[in-house]
Amino acid sequence: MVSLPSMISTKDFVSSKFSPIEGKTTWASPSNIALVKYWGKYGDQFPQNPSLSFTLSKCITTTTVAFKPKGKSNDTFSFSFLFEGKNEAAFHPKIETFLKRIVPYCPYLTEHHLAISSSNSFPHSSGIASSASSMSALALAIASMEREVSPTISSDYFNQKASFLARLGSGSAARSISGPMMSWGETPSVAHSSQAYGTQLFGKIHSVFETFQDTILIIDKGQKKVSSTLGHQLMENHPYAVTRFAQAHEHLAKLVTILSTGEMDDFIALVELEALTLHALMMASNPYFVLMQPNTLAVLNKVWAFRQDTGLPLSFTLDAGANVHLLYPEEDKTAILAFIQTELSVYCQDGQYIEDQVGAGAKML
Ligand code: DP6
Repeated sequence: MVSLPSMISTKDFVSSKFSPIEGKTTWASPSNIALVKYWGKYGDQFPQNPSLSFTLSKCITTTTVAFKPKGKSNDTFSFSFLFEGKNEAAFHPKIETFLKRIVPYCPYLTEHHLAISSSNSFPHSSGIASSASSMSALALAIASMEREVSPTISSDYFNQKASFLARLGSGSAARSISGPMMSWGETPSVAHSSQAYGTQLFGKIHSVFETFQDTILIIDKGQKKVSSTLGHQLMENHPYAVTRFAQAHEHLAKLVTILSTGEMDDFIALVELEALTLHALMMASNPYFVLMQPNTLAVLNKVWAFRQDTGLPLSFTLDAGANVHLLYPEEDKTAILAFIQTELSVYCQDGQYIEDQVGAGAKML
């Protein structure tokens, strides 16, 4: 287990209480796709290993928080939540849990009523995990409340705090604040990396990755048989946990080099190994899970054959479900999209896939 680095302390993110204010803030925050996977956590949502992701640009949650003084002073939260214009009570417990987790750092929350409304750019039933985009959008909106009273805080601090809060909602959400790539978790390979918040990847990034494409094949809209909470728990007594966490550190160090050199064969080998390792860990958990569907496997075989036949650098990664993220350089987009349309869309539920690409991170609207 890695402890918090000595230089940063979670205390640095405790805001002071301020007199309640009225206002409104809207953020559009993207999803992200991990190349080195976060799988295993401890304590207050700290990752067992560092992870690194591409920030996406089209899979976005847009969240508005209208805030006003609550009136009564007590320790309870007052909020309403509309999802795509409809009152969605089913989301209330998740939001309440999030507010409880972050209130030690945002004590002003109990002084305000929050009218939260949210919508996704991608279909709700597509099986795309929305916790990264939704939790980061909400965290950014809440961090903006305190920026209203402290407008001089630096953008670095603002982003760190937003990522810190987002992490407490969903670990991967910590990596949705900036782009084109973010890491999360302490590693000597990324300057200023932290267990507590995500870090934008600076330094030399090969231009091929700045416009990298991610076409998401929707293999199973009802995916997610294993909740991420259970999934992370499965790593607690996993026979391969120690080796896996060490491997993730090595992979992240290698990936940082690959991202700067643009060495495509190394990129493909590492990213596919990470994806299959995630699924192998689930298959070797107790209880065990197979999250791939027959069509997932059919797509992987097609991708390998296509690469062999054409020499084009098409690769895949997977999240904790059946859907497949196809990764490739923008310059090969025409040929690869034609291949997806003619040969792979038949494996997608209702022929559905989403064309996304690497993006610049969240935006205030
Ligand atoms: C497989 O961030 O969804 O997508 O922290 O419990 O909300 P919680 O988990 P979550 O886990 C993401 C797991 C993953 C890999 C990754 O995104 O790094």
